[in-house]
Amino acid sequence: MTTNETLWFRDDSFASAMGDHVIPALVKKARTAPQVRIWSAACSTGQEPYSIAMLILEELRKVETPPPVSKFSILATDLSPSAIVLASSGRYSQLAISRGMRPEFLERYFKKNGMVYEVAPEIRTLVKFQQFNLMSPFKEHGIFDFVLCRNVLIYFSDELKRQIYSKIHDGLQKDGLLAIGASESPRGYTNGFQQVMMGSAALYRPI
Ligand SMILES: C[S@@+](CC[C@H](N)C(=O)[O-])C[C@H]1O[C@@H](n2cnc3c(N)ncnc32)[C@H](O)[C@@H]1O
Repeated sequence: MTTNETLWFRDDSFASAMGDHVIPALVKKARTAPQVRIWSAACSTGQEPYSIAMLILEELRKVETPPPVSKFSILATDLSPSAIVLASSGRYSQLAISRGMRPEFLERYFKKNGMVYEVAPEIRTLVKFQQFNLMSPFKEHGIFDFVLCRNVLIYFSDELKRQIYSKIHDGLQKDGLLAIGASESPRGYTNGFQQVMMGSAALYRPI
C-alpha cells in the first residue's frame, strides 16, 4: 500500500540541492546537449514535476544567454490514474497550494480562477504526464539525465527494490543523477550507484 502524499518543493535540503546544484548543472548541460530529459517516476498529483519545471524556468531567467526552454522535457508518471488526471489538469485547491508552494512562485506561475489555482501554460508544456507502473520494463521511456523516484520504493519488497534500482540505472546517462527520498538508500539493493552530496542532500550517480 502506498499513499499519494506529496508537497511542492518537498524536503528543504532537497529543494536547496535542486536550486543550487542540480538544476544549474542541467541548464549548463542544455547548452551543448540536444535535449535534457527528466523523469519524475512516481509523480503523484504533479507537485514534484511542476516544482522542477518552475526551478528550471527560474534558472533560465537568472543566467546570461540561456539555452532554449525547448531543450528540457519532463516525463511524469504514476501508477494511479486519478493522480495523473489531477496532475494533468494543473488545477489545485487552496489547501494543496498551501502545502509548500513559495509565494513568489505562486505569483509568477499560477493564475487564480475562483477557488482554483491553475498552473501557467509555460510550466505545463514542459511536463508530459502518463500512467505507468514501475514494475513494467522501462525501455519505452529511453535514457534520462535525471530521474526522481522519491518516497515510493519504501513500500516495495527488497526484490522489487533491486529490480527497480537496476532498471533506473540502465535508464540513466553515464553522467545522470538519481534522486530518492530522504529516508531511502540504494545501499543493499545495488552497487550501481555512488552517493554524491549536494549541499546537505544525497543524490546518486550511476557507476
Ligand atoms: C508518497 S507518493 C510520492 C510522490 C512524490 N514522488 C513525492 O515524493 O512527493 C508515492 C506515489 O507512488 C505511486 N506508486 C505506488 N506504486 C507505484 C508503482 N508500482 N508504479 C508507479 N507509481 C507507483 C503512488 O500512486 C503515489 O502517487
